[in-house]
Amino acid sequence: MNDLNTIIENARSAFAQAGTPADLENAKAIFLGKSGRVTELMKGLAALPVDEKKTRGAAINTAKQAIEAALTSRRTELAEAEMQAQLQAESLDVSLPGRRRVAGGLHPVSISSERIEAIFASMGFEVAQGPEIEADWFNFTALNTPQDHPARSMHDTFYVEGGCAAAPNLLRTHTSPVQIRHAVQHVKKYRHLIDAGQAMPEIRVVVPGRCYRVDSDATHSPMFHQVEGLWVGENISFKDLKVIYLDFIQSFFETKDLDIRFRPSFFPFTEPSAEIDIMFGSGPLRGRWLEVSGSGQVHPNVIRNMGLDPERYIGFAFGSGIDRLTMLRYGVDDLRLFFDGDIRFLSQFQ
Ligand code: DAH
Repeated sequence: MNDLNTIIENARSAFAQAGTPADLENAKAIFLGKSGRVTELMKGLAALPVDEKKTRGAAINTAKQAIEAALTSRRTELAEAEMQAQLQAESLDVSLPGRRRVAGGLHPVSISSERIEAIFASMGFEVAQGPEIEADWFNFTALNTPQDHPARSMHDTFYVEGGCAAAPNLLRTHTSPVQIRHAVQHVKKYRHLIDAGQAMPEIRVVVPGRCYRVDSDATHSPMFHQVEGLWVGENISFKDLKVIYLDFIQSFFETKDLDIRFRPSFFPFTEPSAEIDIMFGSGPLRGRWLEVSGSGQVHPNVIRNMGLDPERYIGFAFGSGIDRLTMLRYGVDDLRLFFDGDIRFLSQFQ
């Protein structure tokens, strides 16, 4: 019996020393494997006399069961330890503070653009868009700009690949080309009415967008934003332009205490032409005329390039600087702040 107890003890301590499931399987083989200690004892039974065989066999069996029980319990222990180690390694500290998601917001110039669109939409204006890479025809020629006009020079305009020498492609220098693009589409749509001598629905459109010029200082950026306005009909006058612009500007600045004036000026695509100045009756900018827009009665040549008869149709247009309106609204004195991308500046507008 003593030898059996020794084997059981040896097995228990071998199992206890096994630190991994693989070690444990190796230890098992030593005791319960094909040529393991217990198996060898079983083989030895054959040589014993019958009555001894019985008691010896039973004792070996009991020892085998004890060893198997030790093996099972060590297996459970190792599995448990492995599970604990895994839990430890993958543990989550639920007390860590979360990562805050900062809400983004619109750029101040985008906020202005959206306000401008909404105000003009409420006055029955459509909103249109045009390409930023523009053909010479739409940007200059169709707008009655002479071939030798200084705005066409490379000092003022960014020319890009494409087109030909006589009609190069460029980055649009203003939103005015969309006057032509939009009007041509509109006229095409209502050609049948025009040709039948009936009234065409008026063109009323605003076009906000990016423009480009070779220019850079505190109040000029090579990329800037304008909003173009165009109103073409049969029975409209300068008075109508004045009324809608005053309405717009007072809505934009949220005050009735704001006056406007039209100051004679020159643009190739309008005749007569005017600069629109505004003056606040109160606040930090009170009492100073501030230029915010070009405007005018659309030149007969431009009306013709829209596909309309200038004897019958009259148009009024304006082009206002969105960046400038935004600077005035928020009291920003350097245009470059809008385009530096400094989040400390931009987050103030949320
Ligand atoms: N396109 C002009 C500019 O960029 C602004 C302008 C003036 C637009 C008169 C107009 C207009 O529509 O009628 O300086």
